[in-house]
Amino acid sequence: MPTKKKEDKKIKPVKAVKKPTVVKAKPVKVVKSVKVAKFVKRPNKPEVKKEVGVDEERNSSPWKPLRGMRDILPKQEKYWQTLYDNAKAMATYFHFGRIETPILEEAKLFLRTLGKNTDIVSKEMYVFEQQEESGKICLRPEATASVMRAYIANGLWNQSQPVKMWYWGPMFRHDRPQAGRYRQFYQVGYEIIGANDPIMDAELILVAYNFYKDLGLPVTIQINSIGLPEERERYANELVSYYRTKRSYLCESCRQRLIKNPLRLLDCKEDQCQPIKDGAPQILDWLTESSKSYFMKVLEYLDDLEVPYVLQPNLVRGLDYYTHTVFEVFPALENDDDKNLQQLSQIALGGGGRYDLLGKEMAGRETPASGMALGVDRSIMVLKEYAKNHEIKISEPKMDIFFAQLGERAKGQALKLINNLKQSGLKIGFNLYKNSLKTQLESANAMAVPYALILGQKEMQDGTIIIRDMESGIQEIVDQKKIEVLIKKRLSSL
Ligand code: HAM
Repeated sequence: MPTKKKEDKKIKPVKAVKKPTVVKAKPVKVVKSVKVAKFVKRPNKPEVKKEVGVDEERNSSPWKPLRGMRDILPKQEKYWQTLYDNAKAMATYFHFGRIETPILEEAKLFLRTLGKNTDIVSKEMYVFEQQEESGKICLRPEATASVMRAYIANGLWNQSQPVKMWYWGPMFRHDRPQAGRYRQFYQVGYEIIGANDPIMDAELILVAYNFYKDLGLPVTIQINSIGLPEERERYANELVSYYRTKRSYLCESCRQRLIKNPLRLLDCKEDQCQPIKDGAPQILDWLTESSKSYFMKVLEYLDDLEVPYVLQPNLVRGLDYYTHTVFEVFPALENDDDKNLQQLSQIALGGGGRYDLLGKEMAGRETPASGMALGVDRSIMVLKEYAKNHEIKISEPKMDIFFAQLGERAKGQALKLINNLKQSGLKIGFNLYKNSLKTQLESANAMAVPYALILGQKEMQDGTIIIRDMESGIQEIVDQKKIEVLIKKRLSSL
């Protein structure tokens, strides 16, 4: 792990610095045509205009968080906890070990690995200067480069390969905030480092697919292969020749892309560029036989696993470190009756791919790898919308009983008894800040508990407590020492 910086150091923000390393590629012989199974038109990214603030609502308080950042309030907890539990269950089942890397990293880690012409590096990084130490630092915009750094720094080559790691945490990108696009957002990611096998890509896609399937949200995978840098460069030359002849019909951004980052031409959403894009050469036709056959194996595995995917020839992903397989996960909601949900089907929930050259770039040693990250905020946003008219498995933690009290002294005893029952495994609802029994029993009803315990002055003196059946209203006075046994007996006979 990197050495810890002095804690009281002052940092001041500066503009993103540019010092990237570009992967150089040589042209190779043209190999034509690969058989593809299913082609679809890649959905345009949605025009979501709504801005986001505290808990996704506009907030006029002078103490609202920074633009594009949110407070995640307790009422959201059930979603966050459900997704976390699900992510962890996937990691445990598929043997990924948890890794935590620092949120602050050296800026050059990302500047050198993600690509100088990527949106993240050219305009979205939060970069800071340190007062007493040289070198700029930044808030991590993603975690793949960090995980590879950690793999190298900790000599994980020496462990049995590949090393499978997962993470969950905040990432930072200074992008224009919109619904589903934040400046601080959370990702859960899974990386497999140290082996080169198409089954790794299939396994990662399966984990992404399962993640949503187990939550009850239908998704589909869009997939492509972008081969190796030399194949890509050869393809990019072809793409540029094709686009040059149509330059006068292109939008302003595409004219820039033509010079700076031709592959991103395929990402353009402007109407005027769509017909040109539709007629563009496809990267799969420019891959070598070995790259094609690698990709075909990934697709065969996915077919066997019955993971729904569509081949997406325009999918190139926004980061330079990818090689071979690239993929993105979208909600499969385009045929839903609900118009809002149909629109959400265009939001990428996650993405990933192979990055066989990243380790070599960073440490000069062959370190093939593959990985993916899912956007937690976006997944929750879509899930919440989907939950409005579909059944999904997200619920508040369910209480077993409610503990009500009457009188000041009873409050103290109630807290003591609640604390004594901590090891019992019983989930107990309570509200010690209300004095009225009626209000407390209303809370018990709202929690839909079958029984309430009531502790009044008399029970305090006698060492007893009332068990109330919430449905029939029948009450029974029992010894306080027998609460656990009696309640468990009643709950088990429900
Ligand atoms: P990415 O496609 O940049 O890939 O991000 C993955 C997911 O993070 C996106 O599909 C999206 O759901 C979410 N996301 C990205 N930006 C934002 C944002 N501004 N607001 C909300 N959610 C966002 C990566 O980050 C790669 N590191 C994935 C990977 C892992 N590749 C290999 N291993």
